[in-house]
Amino acid sequence: MSKRVAILISGSGSNMVALAESMVGDHPARPCLVLSNTPQASGLAKARAMGIETAVVDHRPFKGDRAAFEAVLHETLRAAAPDLIALAGFMRVLTGDFVRQYEGRMLNIHPSLLPKYKGLDTHARAIAAGDTEAGCTVHEVTAELDDGPILGQARVPILPGDTPATLAARVLPMEHTLYPAVLRRVCLGMRAPIMLP
Ligand code: GRF
Repeated sequence: MSKRVAILISGSGSNMVALAESMVGDHPARPCLVLSNTPQASGLAKARAMGIETAVVDHRPFKGDRAAFEAVLHETLRAAAPDLIALAGFMRVLTGDFVRQYEGRMLNIHPSLLPKYKGLDTHARAIAAGDTEAGCTVHEVTAELDDGPILGQARVPILPGDTPATLAARVLPMEHTLYPAVLRRVCLGMRAPIMLP
């Protein structure tokens, strides 16, 4: 039986689209839900256009009460009965208590070569540091932010004159290759990290 994958987004959802488009044919998984923490996420319409069920759990009414937000998030996910959860540009920090409920079953993509540049503004920080390469990482989500076991990385050069925007535009297509490749491997029980290209 196919594994069920819930994909959590906050924005344009290009990684979500790459994941969803990969889950066809003999792929061992299918998307069961695309969930956003904001109704404005343009990825929601893309998911609906692909025939994927969508849900919104808006974090704003829960301001100051992260536990209440996560309780609704958990209920909404539970209704979709996912085997795996893929965070794909999901811009809320999840608590350790929440993450532990999905130990080993939640993946994230982060736009840096972890362990470098956890958190935000990764491309600006890589350029400011004078790095010659950047990239992206897919990892298991653990209680520590951007810190779980690495499942795959893809590298790109940082070129003279790069800005955070030009670098992001070079990294994003690599994300779209890496994340589906790792998801497929994880669905098949393979967790040894892959390195691209
Ligand atoms: C990606 O760069 C992801 O790594 C980062 O936010 C961006 C989301 O892009 N955390 P999208 O919503 O998948 O298009």
